[in-house]
Amino acid sequence: MPYSSMADLKGAHRPDISYRRIRPSDLEVLEKIHNDLFPVSYESEFFHNVANGNGIVSWGAVDRSRPNNQSDELIGFVTTRILVAKDSEIEDLFRTDSPDSDQTLVYILTLGVVESYRNLGVATALIRKVIKYASRIPTCQAVYLHVLYYNNSAIRLYQKMSFQCVRRLSDFYFINGQYYDSFLFVFFMKGGLSPCSPLELVTLMMTYLRSGLKLVAGKLWKNKGKRVSRWPNGKENSGLVTAMQTKRIPVTDGTEF
Ligand SMILES: CC(C)(COP(=O)(O)OP(=O)(O)OC[C@H]1O[C@@H](n2cnc3c(N)ncnc32)[C@H](O)[C@@H]1OP(=O)(O)O)[C@@H](O)C(=O)NCCC(=O)NCCS
Repeated sequence: MPYSSMADLKGAHRPDISYRRIRPSDLEVLEKIHNDLFPVSYESEFFHNVANGNGIVSWGAVDRSRPNNQSDELIGFVTTRILVAKDSEIEDLFRTDSPDSDQTLVYILTLGVVESYRNLGVATALIRKVIKYASRIPTCQAVYLHVLYYNNSAIRLYQKMSFQCVRRLSDFYFINGQYYDSFLFVFFMKGGLSPCSPLELVTLMMTYLRSGLKLVAGKLWKNKGKRVSRWPNGKENSGLVTAMQTKRIPVTDGTEF
């Protein structure tokens, strides 16, 4: 369906979405949308770092057709940070064996779109911003992220955008007293898994195929076990096993769902 038809379906007004960098004035709305969309609370330091661009690069979407006092208010966001590839959990996917390897990765910390603006391509556009940004960093090898294994709309979106599921991480998240697996999705820059050897390529393909099978198994399991709600209720700071806690990713302020 074309964008205009989708927008008409929204009824009240035709959205006029534009994209810009996140600024300090976004702080309050940014925090509110995160609290509304995610099953855990983030530290206030995270929001300050996002709003002030302290080590975090982020973009927001706004609807210019809203009344004046809301026309610059965020309706979507993506937050990212740059990591050194050899210090990351996916360093095995890259040739980082030389100690002075300067390869980098862009990690997507959080991505979200408020419910009334979904299915209009806002998240797609935000991810494109990230990919474009990453492609301008000469050392950047990939964009990557984690997603809760049952977040099917997000998983479909990443697959549609040519992200590759390279592994499933058991019990990656701890939310409201329960462990959940995550998938790790990677968008390889410069078109592929280079600079791997043929053997490494085969190994990667096997890993990818195994992840694919597990994805199908995960979906089947989810359909069977409806007792697990889509978004667990309640929000606890301590409830999330963060990258920092697990040492899986060297970030201090948030892990994507
Ligand atoms: C996941 C999420 C970010 C997707 O946001 P979104 O803005 O609705 O995503 P998009 O509109 O770009 O794409 C979603 C769908 O709209 C379709 N779409 C994209 N652009 C379109 C356009 N111009 N016109 C019509 N449809 C379009 C896509 O094909 C996709 O459909 P599909 O699910 O059948 O593949 C959103 O659902 C969300 O915020 N969820 C809660 C938080 C969350 O889970 N974040 C992700 C953490 S990993």
